[in-house]
Order: sequence, then C-alpha cells, then structure tokens
Amino acid sequence: RTFVAGALGAGAGVAATLGTQYAAGASERNSPTPAAPPLQEARVPFYGQRQAGVDTPAPSYALFIALDLNSGTDAGGVQRLLRVLTSDAASLTQGTAPVVDQEPELATVPAHLTVTFGFGERIFDIVNPAKKPAWLQPLPAFEKIDQLQDQWNDGDLLLQLCSSDRFTLAHAQRMLLKTARSMSRVRWVQEGFRRAYGSEPNGQTMRNLFGQVDGTINPSTLDDSMDRFVWGNHEELEPWEPGGTSLVIRRIHMNLDTWAQSDRPAREDAVGRNLTNGAPLTGTQEHDPADLSATNELGFTVIAPYAHIRRASAQSRVERILRRGYNYDLPVQNASGFSEHFETDGGVSNSGLIFCSYQADPLLQFLPIQERLAELDMLNTWTVPIGSAVFALPAGCEQGGFIGENLFT
Ligand code: HEM
Repeated sequence: RTFVAGALGAGAGVAATLGTQYAAGASERNSPTPAAPPLQEARVPFYGQRQAGVDTPAPSYALFIALDLNSGTDAGGVQRLLRVLTSDAASLTQGTAPVVDQEPELATVPAHLTVTFGFGERIFDIVNPAKKPAWLQPLPAFEKIDQLQDQWNDGDLLLQLCSSDRFTLAHAQRMLLKTARSMSRVRWVQEGFRRAYGSEPNGQTMRNLFGQVDGTINPSTLDDSMDRFVWGNHEELEPWEPGGTSLVIRRIHMNLDTWAQSDRPAREDAVGRNLTNGAPLTGTQEHDPADLSATNELGFTVIAPYAHIRRASAQSRVERILRRGYNYDLPVQNASGFSEHFETDGGVSNSGLIFCSYQADPLLQFLPIQERLAELDMLNTWTVPIGSAVFALPAGCEQGGFIGENLFT
C-alpha cells in the first residue's frame, strides 16, 4: 500500500493510522474506491455516564453558546428543550441529520463533533433548587484585574460545541439554535480555535497567541488525575452529581501589542517557562518538573516570585484544574463590537483566550488559584479578564434518556 505524497496532505498520516486504503499510484479523484476522508469517520461517542467534550481531546474549533431561557419557562418546558437538544446533539455528533434538518447533507461530517451541556443557576431554580450546587454562582469580583463586560458573562444554558471542521460547527450551531429559539435567546457566543487538524502531531500541547505552550500541567486520562480532579473521585472532593463536573469560562483579552514590546527573556521570566518547547526555566523538556526552589548565582529563585507558574501551582491537595481553552482573534477596530479600551495607540490586537477550567468544585479548586493570580502574576501586565461564567455540567445519558434527566427525578 502506498500513499500519494502531497495529494493527501496532512490527512495522509491520519488515514494511515486509521488503516484507510488508497490505491497505489492513484490520485484521489480517479481512485476506483475513493477512501473516506478521515474526518468523515471521526465520531466521538455521545452517550455515556459522562458528557464528551471535557476529557476528550480538544479539536481545532469551538463555539461556546450561552442561552437565556425566556421568562415564564417552567420545568416542563426545560425538560422538553433538553430532550430535543439531546436528541439533536446525539445525531449531529454521529454525522446523522436530525429529523428536522433542512440541509441534511451538511450533517454528514462529524469531524470529532462534541456537544456539551452546562447549566446556569436558573435551570436549577426552575426545575429542582435542591440539586443546585452551592458553588453555582458568579465568581467574586477580582477587582485588581477584572474589567468584565456584561455581554460575556453568565447564562442559563451553555452549549459547548467542538469540532475539527468549522463547517460542521456552523451547521450544528444552526440546528441547535433553531431547536432552542422558541424557548430561549442567545446571550453570547464565543468562538475559539487551536491549530488545524493535522498541523501538529496528535497530543501536542496547544500554543496560545502569546506563543506560549499552554496546557502542560493538566490532569490526564493516562493516570487517575482526570478522574480525581475533574470528575471528583477524590477523598476531599465530590462531584455535584455522579458523572457531572463544572466549567469556569473566563474570556481573557491578551494585549499582543504590548506583549510585542517585551523581549524573549522577559516573556519567559513572566511565566517561568521557555517559549521554545515550554520547558520550565529550571529544566530542558516540556514535562520536566519545575523546581520552584532552585536559585541562580545571585541567590534569586530561577522561577521568579511573580512568575505565572509559581503563582498558579497547586498549594493544596485539591487545587488541580483541567485547562482546555481556545484562542480567539477578532477583527481589529471593529467599531460595533470591540472595546477600544484595550487598544494601545495604533494597536492591532483584538485577541485572547477563552480560558476554560473544568473541575469537580470551582470554589475549592479554581478559586484559590485565581485569587493568587489576581493578587500577583506578571502575566497580568498583558491580560485582562473581560468575561466570566460558571456552569454545572450534568452527567451524560444513555440512548433514550436526555442530558439533565437526573434533575427531574
Ligand atoms: C500554566 C498561560 C490564565 C492557571 C500556564 C502556562 C502558561 C499559561 C503558558 C505554563 C504551561 C502550562 O502548564 O500550561 C496563561 C495565559 C493566561 C492564563 C496566557 C491568560 C490569558 C490562567 C488562569 C488560571 C491559570 C486565569 C487560573 C485561574 C494555570 C495553572 C497552570 C498554568 C493552574 C499550571 C501551573 C503549574 O505549573 O502547576 N498558564 N494562563 N492560568 N496556568 Fe495559566
């Protein structure tokens, strides 16, 4: 079996690992049995005890859609909405058009599509206040750093859509919003991206728009850390419901214009890691453990007191979070949408991070980290939180059930 160099581009390696057959020497166009492009087969299971889209690998594109329920919506209405959205999401993620799809041809490439549901306070207030997790409320204000804009805060129902194909996302978004529109209105949509599928080997830690390797220290499914810190199978943590977790979304503006004025050593000092491969300043490889006590010849710690990783590193047995964020990059000088506030004169950045933190309990795990960072973190020189929302992610469901069903029992 040979592959046509070039003709298949980045997909060739993936096709090879999937065992897809390509006729020797044939071009894609005249191959007698054209192979299915791999993203057409890339399905992430929808049903299960936990929702997909948390510990599943993060595909290239994401849409975070926050909906507000219409006033007067009752528990029956919420249930109907969740049932239909679940059914639509289950179909779309498997590459099948929902019954009401007017463009069913657009639903055929699942491309790792996941749809993950998150609940804001109001869903609990309407359906079952007794089940509302105590932590489900807006985070306290971080006065030294926050410049929140209401257009990016809160929401009753979150739909997190991730896919390796932006086109797939567009269609999935439209289908779900059509279903939801009689009962809700869109509060905000945040669109994010990482490297395109095939641009980098699978499993490579993402980079953010500062150029940093971002996501090195994270819970993993290769050991029990994901299970413990994200799903709450931990002596000192508890999931709000079995199979459930939480999501904190912080929209963080990153000022690429002022970042451009700092040199490489200053940038590396601010985080405590190098920019080449993300290794800590006390090591050489990305996953070398950071030595926070190592000192230089002058007696100063190599990783500075104000370095992001020193301030963010866990100070208790539970302070571990799953960071699974996405970059955003919007048109500059967009008079209708963009706050001029973050621009330096002649600046050309309207970029940042949709910072997503998943953990069993945001108050015990996320909050202490954020409090320390708000107090002191050199990265704050270039970053400004402009949006904030907290959601309870319910358990997954089995076929025939619906996401959120446990609230109704
Ligand atoms: C680590 C960037 C905001 C928590 C890191 C690293 C980078 C980074 C480059 C080092 C590599 C890694 O382990 O991923 C950023 C940027 C931010 C941001 C650019 C804002 C735009 C935040 C926020 C939090 C946070 C808001 C939580 C409140 C962490 C944690 C680590 C980390 C827990 C790992 C620390 C350790 O080494 O143990 N971040 N970060 N970061 N960040 Fe951030």
